Amino acid sequence: MKIAVGSDHAGFELKKAVVAWLERNGHECHDMGPYNDESVDYPDYARKVAESVAGGAADQGVLLCGTGIGVSISANKVRGIRAALACNPEFATLARQHNNANVICFPARFSDPTTIEKSLQNWFAADFEGGRHERRVNKIEPCS
Ligand code: RB5
Repeated sequence: MKIAVGSDHAGFELKKAVVAWLERNGHECHDMGPYNDESVDYPDYARKVAESVAGGAADQGVLLCGTGIGVSISANKVRGIRAALACNPEFATLARQHNNANVICFPARFSDPTTIEKSLQNWFAADFEGGRHERRVNKIEPCS
């Protein structure tokens, strides 16, 4: 799959592990930055990744910031994006199965490479279950 990846400075180190894992596992990785650990603003990178997924250039996205919260909030402002915060590998599975999430967000300051790799494994192994979950996902709409 084509996967867009981005972070802020807090996620920069673990982003390298994400990129390496994706490439090892046969994915086409679009690293949208940052490319060093200087302080940056997470909405800028979340938006790049979210727009890449929403526009179809990437199939799915991976984002990292300190808590994963800032990138989640930012990515979810882009129409068509369902960005899910994955605090552990089970979250990654359920985000695909129940929410049909298309962007996974990691809390870099509260995670480690092993947890993130297991989460990515689960994310790609899980499929959206549809059914009652589809009805609910279809009700997620921008309003006001
Ligand atoms: C950056 O210090 C930090 O605020 C950011 O990485 C993230 O945790 C925001 O949600």
